[in-house]
Parts: sequence; structure tokens; C-alpha cells
Amino acid sequence: MRIAVGVDHGAFFVKQAVIEHIESLGHTVTDFGTYDDSSCDYPDVVKELGPKVAAGDFDRGVVLCGTGIGMSIAANKVKGIRAALCHDAYSARLTRQHNDSNILCMGGRVLGLGPMLDIVRIWLGEDFDGGRHQRRIDKVRQLETQ
Ligand code: RB5
Repeated sequence: MRIAVGVDHGAFFVKQAVIEHIESLGHTVTDFGTYDDSSCDYPDVVKELGPKVAAGDFDRGVVLCGTGIGMSIAANKVKGIRAALCHDAYSARLTRQHNDSNILCMGGRVLGLGPMLDIVRIWLGEDFDGGRHQRRIDKVRQLETQ
């Protein structure tokens, strides 16, 4: 898959490890920054990456900030994005199966690198179950226009 990766300064220190892990799983990564640990604003990263994921230029996105919360709030403002903040394997698996999440959010300051990379691998490896979950996603999409 084509994976867009973006971080703010709160997760810059894990960005390269996340990118290399995704590549080791056979995916292609495009790096949307940030490119050093100086302070930046997570919505600026989402503004670049989010619309491209929503448009299908990328299959999925992985974004990290200090907590993952800011990235998830920002990403879910982009039409067509279903961003999931996951800090455990169960949520990572289920958000793919049930929510068809297209962006994974995590906090670089919340999890250690080992669990973080496990979550990335699980999230990338799971498929959407469809069925009743598609109906619910369709209803979520209707909320975008209200
Ligand atoms: C930056 O200090 C921090 O606020 C940011 O990385 C993120 O955690 C916001 O939700």
C-alpha cells in the first residue's frame, strides 16, 4: 500500500523508526514531515496529508503527535477521513474491521516504540469487514454535510 506518514515535533523522534517499520512490511511510504524537532503545528501536517489520503492518492495514513489526540481531532475534520486514535492492539484491529479507518493516530509520548510498531503492523494488516459496518460508515458520512 501507499502510506502517508506525518508527525509533529512531539513524535519526531519516532518518525524514522515508524517509516522503516512500514517499509519493512512491504509498503511504500511518503514522508510529510515534520523534518526536525523544532516546534510546529499538527494541523499543518494534516492539511497536507489528509486531503491526499481522502482523495485516494494514498491508501492510508499514519500520523503521530505527542498524544495523538491533536492529530486525530484535526484529521477527522477532513472530509472522507476516518482517523482512529489507537494505543492498544485490540482497538487497532477493530477500527480497521469495523470503522474502515484510513488514518491511524498515535502519541509518541504515550507508548514505547515496541508497542507502537506492533499497533502499526496490526492496523496495516487488517481488512474492513463491510456488511452492517458499511451502513454505519455511510451514516457517519452523512454527518459530514450537516
Ligand atoms: C505538542 O506539544 C503537543 O501538544 C502535540 O504534539 C499533541 O500532543 C497535541 O495533541
